[in-house]
Amino acid sequence: MPQNKLGVGFIGSGFNTRFHIRSWVGVRDADVRGVWSPNREHAEEAAALSHSLRVGDAKAFNSIDDMIADPSVDCIWLCGPNHMRIENMEAIVDAVISGKGRLIGIACEKPLARNVAEAKRVVELIEKSGLLHGYLENQLFTPAVQRGRALIWARGAALTGRPYLARAAEEHSGPHMPWFWQGELQGGGVLNDMMCHSVEVARYMLTEPGKPRASIRPTAVSAQIASLKWSRPEYVERLKKMMGSSVDYASKPSEDFARATVNYVDEQGHLLIVEATTSWSFVGAGLRLSMELLGPEYSMSINTLDSGLKLFFSREVRGEAGEDLVEKQNAEQGLMPVVDDEAAAYGYEGENRYFVSCFLEGKQPEENFYDGLEVSELLMTAYMSAEQGRVIEFPPKELDGFVPAVARGTWKP
Ligand SMILES: NC(=O)c1ccc[n+]([C@@H]2O[C@H](COP(=O)([O-])OP(=O)(O)OC[C@H]3O[C@@H](n4cnc5c(N)ncnc54)[C@H](O)[C@@H]3O)[C@@H](O)[C@H]2O)c1
Repeated sequence: MPQNKLGVGFIGSGFNTRFHIRSWVGVRDADVRGVWSPNREHAEEAAALSHSLRVGDAKAFNSIDDMIADPSVDCIWLCGPNHMRIENMEAIVDAVISGKGRLIGIACEKPLARNVAEAKRVVELIEKSGLLHGYLENQLFTPAVQRGRALIWARGAALTGRPYLARAAEEHSGPHMPWFWQGELQGGGVLNDMMCHSVEVARYMLTEPGKPRASIRPTAVSAQIASLKWSRPEYVERLKKMMGSSVDYASKPSEDFARATVNYVDEQGHLLIVEATTSWSFVGAGLRLSMELLGPEYSMSINTLDSGLKLFFSREVRGEAGEDLVEKQNAEQGLMPVVDDEAAAYGYEGENRYFVSCFLEGKQPEENFYDGLEVSELLMTAYMSAEQGRVIEFPPKELDGFVPAVARGTWKP
C-alpha cells in the first residue's frame, strides 16, 4: 500500500456530509473522491461542493458497490440516517468480502446504531470485514476540548489531583429533517441524538491523556427525559407544518429534553461523575455546546456561543431566515454570536485529520466502533433509568434486547 494520500467516499449526502466536506479544507493527505446517496441529485450536489472547495475530484456513484469497487476510494465515511446503518454496513462488508475494491477503513457517524443490539451487529460486521474503524465523535476533537484537557491534566491534575466532575451539554431548537423527530427511525429523541456526544466528550475529558478508556469505569446511570415543548398542542401543529404529517407529536412524541448522571470509578476506586444535558427545546442564538471539567483546585469551561465574533443588526435589517451565523440559528437581528469556522470549532476538521492519519498509517483509531458501542450501552441504560425512575447499575443485564419506549412509539410524556 504505497500511499501518501487517501481517497474518501461518503455514504449519505445530507447536512452532516456537507459539514465534513467543508471541514476538508483543513485536512491534508486525503481527498473526497466519491458520494453515494439514494438521491442522485443530492449526491451530485455534495460532489459539486467538494469540487468548488477544491477538496477532491468527487464523483456521484450509482451504488455503494460501485463506489467501493472504484480504485480511487480507500475508505468510507458512513453518514447515512440512523435507520439505514445496518443496511449500509451490510452493503459495505458484502462488497469488501466479495473482493471488491481495496478499502482500508470505515469511519461511522454517531450514534453507531439505534440501540445496543444494532450496535453489536455493526461491531460484528466490522470484525468480519477486518477493516480499520473509527467512531466519528467530533466533540472530542474540538480545539477547545483538546487544548483545555491537555492543560488541565498537565497542570491542575498533575499538581493537585485528577478531575472528578465533567459536565457536557448540547442544545438547540430541534433537528432539520423529519426522521430525527421519529423515534422509530432515529432510535429515540434528543437523548439518543445528542447525548451520545455529551456522555462521550465528558468521559474523554475525565480520562487521563494516554490512558485507555477502561482506566475509568461506568458503574451507575440515572436519567430523566421529558417533552417540555414539542408535545404542546400549538407546537404539535407547528412541527407538522415544518416536518410533514409523519411527525405527529400528539400521538408519537419523542423527548426534547434529557439529563443523565453517569457514575464512574477510577483505578483507585474514587467516584467520578459525568453530568449530561441535552435539549431540542433550547431557543438561543443557535446551537450551544458547553463543557466543563472540574477538579480539586481548577476548572475549565467552554461555551461555543461565547464566540469571539459578534455582529449586531438593527431592526431595519430584515433579511431572510438563514443558518449563516451559527448552526440551528434562531434569529437574524440584534446582537448575534458568529462561530467563525464551525467545521473546525465543532471538531470535524480535527477528527477527520485524525482518522485519515490512522488509516494512512494502517493504525486502529483510538476512538473506534467499540467506543460507539459503549456509548450506545450508556444511552440505553439512561433510557431504562428514565423509564423506571431509578438509578440503574451499569451494565444492566437486559441491555441487549432493550429498545426505548420512545423508539417503539409507545412513550407517554
Ligand atoms: N456529528 C454530528 O454532530 C452530527 C450532526 C448531524 C448528523 N449526524 C449524524 O450523521 C448522520 C446523517 O445525518 P444528516 O444530518 O446528514 O441527515 P440528513 O437527513 O441531512 O441526510 C441523510 C442523508 O442520507 C441519505 N440517505 C437516505 N437513505 C439512505 C440510505 N438508505 N443509505 C444511505 N444514505 C441514505 C439521504 O439522501 C441524505 O443525503 C446521522 O447518523 C446523524 O446522526 C452527526
